[in-house]
Amino acid sequence: MYKLKEIADNVFYVGVNDRQKALFENMWSLPYGVSYNSYLIRDEKSVLIDTVDVCYSDIFLKKIADVLDGKPLDYLVVDHMEPDHAGSIHLLRQQYPDVQIIGNKFTTGMLEGFHGITTGIKEVKEGETLSIGSRELTFYMAPMVHWPEVMVTYDSKDKILFSADAFGTYGTLDGGVIDEEMNVDHYWEEMYRYYSNIVGKYGNPVQRTLQKLAPLEIKSICSTHEPVWREHIQKAIHIYDQLSRYEGENGVVIIYGSMYGNTEQMAETIAASLANNGVKNIVMHNVSKSLASYILKDVFKYKGVIIGAPTYCNSLYPEVESILSKIELREVKNRYYGYFGSYSWAGTAVKRLAAFGADMNWEIVGAPVEERQALKAGKYEECFVLGEAMASKLKNI
Ligand code: FEO
Repeated sequence: MYKLKEIADNVFYVGVNDRQKALFENMWSLPYGVSYNSYLIRDEKSVLIDTVDVCYSDIFLKKIADVLDGKPLDYLVVDHMEPDHAGSIHLLRQQYPDVQIIGNKFTTGMLEGFHGITTGIKEVKEGETLSIGSRELTFYMAPMVHWPEVMVTYDSKDKILFSADAFGTYGTLDGGVIDEEMNVDHYWEEMYRYYSNIVGKYGNPVQRTLQKLAPLEIKSICSTHEPVWREHIQKAIHIYDQLSRYEGENGVVIIYGSMYGNTEQMAETIAASLANNGVKNIVMHNVSKSLASYILKDVFKYKGVIIGAPTYCNSLYPEVESILSKIELREVKNRYYGYFGSYSWAGTAVKRLAAFGADMNWEIVGAPVEERQALKAGKYEECFVLGEAMASKLKNI
């Protein structure tokens, strides 16, 4: 029934789109949805690379049956055990009881824990190969990109890298599957957001994996999320390389909380100063309105980070505290950092923002500004000076 897309001769796309889920990992918004990619190779042996979220198992299993056309499914390669890709494994096993599951020593425990599967598992090690007829698959471990059991699978015949989450983005596949068949413009900004939300903490493991894969000749990257990269392979690799090195672009993200607009006026003043001093990329996030997903994206994207907050119940404004914890969790490195805050009768916010900068080991730029009640002339001037200091630092990028 299905006319399934062939990525290469006898390599079929059997993934699905999810336009229903509102929040990925129940945290990160999905305005363009998300796809769960899976690929089925038909050769002397048939091999499925990963499965899909269990919510889509019905259509997924029908696609597999169509491609196999009555032939057995010999292998399932599990590159990643997170349930958006591994969720249908137990149902696949019910349908194809003889399928051999290929994973590594970390996959095994998760197969039992998530699915109660303890048999018919073949454990592979770094660099091990599997001959399936005209093709040979090679497995490379990619721990912490984004879970410990992650590995990638390389097909030397068509030079395809099945890369698990690596090089993925948010967004569904709206008809096309391969990048050269579609307008991919909106995927790039979503790639920053996806990386910062999902993989952001694991810069060093991503770097190690990029270096490991560098010698391979790669003509197609088949990630578990979104387009097959072919025309834009280098751009996708470049973005993952840049983000995993925590290399910020020239620009500033101003993150602030404000209950009655006084802290916001400080943020506005700093932004005006940045613009006055030649900074073109300025993004402002009111934490009570902007979603954390987008704030994190801009923290990863830009070299300059300025954070402001009022004091609340003798603590930092909780909505800003929540963002700080998400940034700390991702161990974002090498940022220029300015901070400011306001209070009505007792100041705590600026002290906490100072401690945050020290914990992150970020370079403090300019003098912090702290105002009591409404913004007045002297502190207005200090906000302007803070903006000037940040603009001056960014001139060297
Ligand atoms: Fe797309 Fe880490 O799962």
